[in-house]
Amino acid sequence: MKVGILTGGGDCPGLNPVIRGAVRVICNAGGEVYGLLEGWRGAIEGNYIELTSENTDDIIFKGGTILGSSRTNPYKNAEEDVPRVIATLEHLGLDCLIAIGGDDTLGVANKLWNDHKLPVIGCPKTIDNDLSSTDVTFGFDSSINIVMEAVDRLRTTAESHRRVMVVETMGRHAGWIALFSGLATAADYTLVPEVEIDMDRMVEVLKRRREKGKKYGIVIVSEGAHFSEAEGVTTQDGEIDDFGHVKLGGIGETVAKLIEERTGFETRHVTLGHLQRGGSPSAYDRVLGTRCGVHAGWLALKHHFGYMVALRGTQVVPVALADAVGEMRALEPNFLEEAEVFLK
Ligand code: F6P
Repeated sequence: MKVGILTGGGDCPGLNPVIRGAVRVICNAGGEVYGLLEGWRGAIEGNYIELTSENTDDIIFKGGTILGSSRTNPYKNAEEDVPRVIATLEHLGLDCLIAIGGDDTLGVANKLWNDHKLPVIGCPKTIDNDLSSTDVTFGFDSSINIVMEAVDRLRTTAESHRRVMVVETMGRHAGWIALFSGLATAADYTLVPEVEIDMDRMVEVLKRRREKGKKYGIVIVSEGAHFSEAEGVTTQDGEIDDFGHVKLGGIGETVAKLIEERTGFETRHVTLGHLQRGGSPSAYDRVLGTRCGVHAGWLALKHHFGYMVALRGTQVVPVALADAVGEMRALEPNFLEEAEVFLK
């Protein structure tokens, strides 16, 4: 059997363990694996490398993806891109293509399966943890560990200077990274896109803590957090980027300014940005990535196409790609309720 693999969208720690897992399964069964370079761009342009058990054996600890990634979407560029993807698969004689990516990459896989019966298998990835149909995405754990480490460092300087430190995290329109980081670092306040910013409440919490003797404050802000219209604070310019997403970022600075104005506490802000996607995967992400890769390989051997591997409880199971794409998974209310305990 000949299998292609590609990694699309924003990179994240855990992609290489997936590649290693899938390659091992296919090669153990006597098959061949080709890695298409830079996501769908490699499939369009026919750029690839051969992957073997040997050349993927020691990639487990590497962050990013050895195949490179891009946000190229064959349905959004030139009309001939989709036929070119099909031609690449035919040229290589691929019996299956494993597409590892977020909603955009998996959406393409789903369309290729639906429209052209191209034999695809999906594997969900994102630090944002916002994909429906899977309980956890690899990348998320590494990312919240990076935020945790950063906040632990910021805590000592914040305390020395009696400052409030506002830390802006990634996560797009979902608050998973922010909320989990807030819980892991005992942040004084966490702002997520799922709940409109309530400045009065945050100011009240920060002041109360100071009065009770805490000399500094930590506020975590998800990049997608926003004010209610009534607050009249514009935080995002609403510009749309090349991929149709509203441009995010900058909310941390706005929130920091407002905190300083309304509390009188000296305040600084830090945007962690792409640090949250860099470096070696955590043990959890190495194991989850490996398991996803192994299961994707097994699905390929069984010709179980049009499915995505998903974590459900402790099991990795196949779910129909069509059911897995198109819907963002926001923070569920129970997580918000648990975090509320620490605002008293
Ligand atoms: O989806 C992952 C993510 O890191 C988001 O959290 C963030 O908004 C976005 O990608 C950044 O994208 P880029 O790397 O293209 O700037």
